[in-house]
Amino acid sequence: MKVVSFSIFKGGTGKTTSTVNTAAALVHKGQRVLLVDLDQQASATRYVDLDPEQSPNLYDVFLGTKPAALAIRKANCGVHVLTSHVLMAAIEEALEPGDELKLSHLLTPLKPSYDFILIDNPPGKAMLAFNGLAAADLIIIPASAERMAVDGVADLINHVQKIMWNKFALTHQELRILFTMYRATTSHSPAIVANAQKIWRDNVLNVKIPHAIIFSKSYDAKQPIGALAPKHQGAIAYEVLADWLIDYEKTAR
Ligand SMILES: Nc1ncnc2c1ncn2[C@@H]1O[C@H](COP(=O)(O)OP(=O)(O)OP(=O)(O)O)[C@@H](O)[C@H]1O
Ligand SMILES: [Mg+2]
Repeated sequence: MKVVSFSIFKGGTGKTTSTVNTAAALVHKGQRVLLVDLDQQASATRYVDLDPEQSPNLYDVFLGTKPAALAIRKANCGVHVLTSHVLMAAIEEALEPGDELKLSHLLTPLKPSYDFILIDNPPGKAMLAFNGLAAADLIIIPASAERMAVDGVADLINHVQKIMWNKFALTHQELRILFTMYRATTSHSPAIVANAQKIWRDNVLNVKIPHAIIFSKSYDAKQPIGALAPKHQGAIAYEVLADWLIDYEKTAR
């Protein structure tokens, strides 16, 4: 239980923000963490202040010109990163149905070197996103507590059950829902979460990420929120998520 994919087909729900800040919080707690930026937009790469133009990157790894272990770069926040590149679009084009397990195989030799491998999945239903799902032991579904979240979450869960579990027999995979952009002072966010809890029960994580402008500031500053504003509620929420993951990994072992 160590490869965690942050994934939902819907765009803009906090996948990248959650992957980067959880990775940094885990490093802060002494964990060895690899972040895999699967999105050709390279937002996670930029967030941790690495240049997506630079080689080596995930494109070289998919192409087979560099083994994954030699393509890893280290970010200032201490997270190790397989960075993305615009050419990941070409990889997306080249992957065919049946290639869903490619990333999983590429990451296998790295597993002994890390406590956690966190994957920032791209939005949309395409082969790289499917590769990010197939590589995961645990899929965390970041859902916005601002908008109708249930449909997007149900869509992802259906895909995982039908394709990942039935077709690829990845029945060890577990799913958890992480609410982001949560506004405690409105009735809207608590109602969305209560509705999801009715459907998915304990699969909805207790920790909720508050809605806060500091997250876009943190992205602009290229610093995880824990470095920029360690006492902020948002930073504390990702610390709680990191603690949950560490406990979860221990009990799964
Ligand atoms: N908890 C939050 N509160 C307020 N804004 C947030 C929060 N989390 C993320 N954001 C902002 O929302 C936008 C989308 O977040 P992010 O890029 O993490 O989503 P994503 O799911 O990775 O998007 P995409 O599907 O495009 O990859 C960003 O501008 C980010 O700064
Ligand atoms: Mg993203």
